[in-house]
Amino acid sequence: MKILAIETSCDETAAAVVEDGRKILSSVVHTQIAEHRIYGGVVPEIASRRHIEKIDAVVKKALGDAGLTAHTVDAVAVTAGPGLIGALLVGLNFAKGFAWMADKPLIPVHHIRGHIAANYLADPGLEPPFLCLVASGGHSLIVDVQDYTRFAVLGRSRDDAAGEAFDKAARAMGLGYPGGVALDRLARGGNDRLYHFPQPHVEGAPLDMSFSGVKTSVVNLLHNARQKNESLDLPSLAACFERTVCEALCSRLFAAAEQTGATILSVAGGVSANTRLRETLQQEAKRRGLRLCMPPLSLTGDNAAMIGAQGYFEYQAGHIAPPSLNAVATLSVERGAPQDFAL
Ligand code: KG4
Ligand code: ZN
Repeated sequence: MKILAIETSCDETAAAVVEDGRKILSSVVHTQIAEHRIYGGVVPEIASRRHIEKIDAVVKKALGDAGLTAHTVDAVAVTAGPGLIGALLVGLNFAKGFAWMADKPLIPVHHIRGHIAANYLADPGLEPPFLCLVASGGHSLIVDVQDYTRFAVLGRSRDDAAGEAFDKAARAMGLGYPGGVALDRLARGGNDRLYHFPQPHVEGAPLDMSFSGVKTSVVNLLHNARQKNESLDLPSLAACFERTVCEALCSRLFAAAEQTGATILSVAGGVSANTRLRETLQQEAKRRGLRLCMPPLSLTGDNAAMIGAQGYFEYQAGHIAPPSLNAVATLSVERGAPQDFAL
């Protein structure tokens, strides 16, 4: 089954064709990063407008690269939430029109379920159940993937998402937007023990996380140093921040594995591109004899191939939406059936 997938939840206009949830036939991502950079973050209104301008060409290219037409794909999958509502609506309405015109089923996909499904593309032998550490710009979750369309959240960040903390700390350090990847690069040359940041624990919820404290510590250190006209060792500051966040994420994933007895682990979301996080997870999984799946860097950030992968499994579960499908800005990963997207 060949699914055309569309993703416009944030600042990437993306389309892809995926076969049977496992094989990428084409994948096109048009990123708007350069345009949002001057504002230090994504401007929702600009994101929506650019999606409108680009979506037609991006979908045409994805179909062309796969050697298909609107009539030779079998279904259309689209991110219906969570995300920026105006941005989501562009992809959603395009997909609706396309599905109606080509007379194909319309499959709504939860963005985070899509991130998790990037693992099915990376490892065609991977099957649930497994645990997934989701770390993106908007979410930090420990998810029990019980089946392709059944999820339970075991832990979550109580405040900032990991990616949000990376971006805010990077911004305070003058690294621009998006800061995660720049901070990752800067940290390579630093001493990760020079500065000490507290490792927060949520009372009574050992798998929950908190990242606003470490972010604020970085901002305060920089502020105080500036006031005293002192200079900080920025690579070491980046390395210490990164170590604190990575330790929080990794310790929760392995604690969840101990708690549930899971032997297969995976990661998903933009922060899973982080060099230190990948190295730490790999080492620790090996030491514990656990199987670890990590999507390649091309599938960690937003893309439509992951939506096509999850779309296939949603379709298998009968999750086909009527034309009244709507987009939602927030929605737990535990919910993602058509009726969960305001119909
Ligand atoms: O999953 P994603 O592409 O978009 C959302 O759904 O949010 O995640 C974007 C986040 C941003 O916060 C970005 O700074 C972060 O992922 N990120 C990284 C790295 N690459 C991207 N964070 C740390 N290290 C990286 N190498
Ligand atoms: Zn994302």
